Amino acid sequence: MQKQTVVITYGTFDLFHIGHLKILKRAKRLGDRLIVGISTDSFNLKKNKKTVIPYHDRAEIVRHLKFVDQVIPESCWEQKQKDIIQHNVDIFVMGHDWEGQFDTLSSLCKVQYLPRTKGISTTKIKAYLKKHKEPQTPSTQLATTY
Ligand code: CTP
Repeated sequence: MQKQTVVITYGTFDLFHIGHLKILKRAKRLGDRLIVGISTDSFNLKKNKKTVIPYHDRAEIVRHLKFVDQVIPESCWEQKQKDIIQHNVDIFVMGHDWEGQFDTLSSLCKVQYLPRTKGISTTKIKAYLKKHKEPQTPSTQLATTY
């Protein structure tokens, strides 16, 4: 039997939005199996990032997407190398905001940076909600408002 192409990507995926959905869909199209590392709350604190949605819920949302095959916790910067070996990963994917930053992993697998969806990010949603103090804006409106 031919080996499945395994793709891995990482992120926080707080306030899950269309940019998250699109990058995960595109990552899955690169192979047969998609593994997503989700930053834990304690790892996010080390990155000075405070999430609205706790790790368990963020992981649960991503785990239930039909194109995601496995979710693993991401608890430190150094684990990516170990994950790639342990899960027999062929392609490591990140958004192009990380361009060049993981090139050292190319000794272990292919490293690919994908374009981000324009006009939306968790940071922008948080800023929007802070400014408008109302939660019910459709994402299309959010994308054009920013
Ligand atoms: N991503 C994307 N397009 C966006 C936002 C995020 O493709 N508009 C990708 C990122 O490049 C990353 C993954 O989604 O590969 C998870 O990103 P994450 O940092 O969790 O989301 P952001 O919305 O960028 O969050 P923040 O604003 O807190 O950085």
